[in-house]
Amino acid sequence: MDTKINPVLTGRKALIVGVANDQSIAYGCAKAFRAAGAELAITWLNEKARPHVEPLAHELEASIMAGLDVSKPGELEAVFQTIEKNWGRLDVLVHSIAFAPKADLQGGLLDCSGEGFAKAMDISCHSFIRMARLAAPLMSDGGAMFAMSYLGANKVVPNYNVMGPVKAALEAACRYLAYELGPKGVRVHAISPGPLKTRAASGIKDFELLLNEAASKAPLGELVDIMDVGWTCAYLATPFAHRLTGGTVYVDSGANILA
Ligand SMILES: NC(=O)c1ccc[n+]([C@@H]2O[C@H](COP(=O)([O-])OP(=O)(O)OC[C@H]3O[C@@H](n4cnc5c(N)ncnc54)[C@H](O)[C@@H]3O)[C@@H](O)[C@H]2O)c1
Repeated sequence: MDTKINPVLTGRKALIVGVANDQSIAYGCAKAFRAAGAELAITWLNEKARPHVEPLAHELEASIMAGLDVSKPGELEAVFQTIEKNWGRLDVLVHSIAFAPKADLQGGLLDCSGEGFAKAMDISCHSFIRMARLAAPLMSDGGAMFAMSYLGANKVVPNYNVMGPVKAALEAACRYLAYELGPKGVRVHAISPGPLKTRAASGIKDFELLLNEAASKAPLGELVDIMDVGWTCAYLATPFAHRLTGGTVYVDSGANILA
């Protein structure tokens, strides 16, 4: 696909959370927002992740780069303070992070521990609410927020386990945030990509089967890539999509319409 599109987001400021490497969905989002003209803030999880993310942030000319572990008190606040100081505002927020302890992710929901459930919910869902709370006051001209979900939120996908209920909560959170932030002109979307071979996906048992099934089942007959997700988010952040909010947008070659 031609990546030269009209830079409709020139001057817009976008915070992208969730780049781990060049396969990350967040990296596809960062590339698409940059191609559409936006200025980027990109975070990495910790010092171990930094050497994998920092070169990508430089490649995309990110003007703000920082470490961010949403489970560490104060780190999220520090990122938003830097954004306020350097940019004075924010237009786009992309939350593309998820986590569940391995034992809880790979066992069935019946066996999920309370601690594992709480951790998965905190990092994969409540952190989006915390981000939205910090981002909204900076979105003085309105804005767009995105959180990555998956079909397992609404349908039972074998081996998705605890992440199913967690993504269901995330999609519901998007609807409630869209309701609460609508009067400020801030739009909130859950994005539901089809399966993509990323590091997070490697934690899901028999992920290859999901990939094969997604490709054979999808009406368009093809798997999606991270740029498909990125372009969708970039479009939803433009004025062309200014009356869309609160929904779950599937980027999955149509697979979700099938029984
Ligand atoms: N890969 C898929 O098939 C697929 C499909 C639908 C939705 N998703 C969702 O997309 C999002 C991105 O995942 P991905 O597939 O690009 O994998 P990825 O491994 O590239 O990204 C996951 C990111 O989560 C970050 N993260 C984990 N714990 C964190 C914490 N405490 N603080 C800050 N960041 C933390 C990691 O550092 C990493 O950057 C996730 O929400 C995932 O559930 C993935």
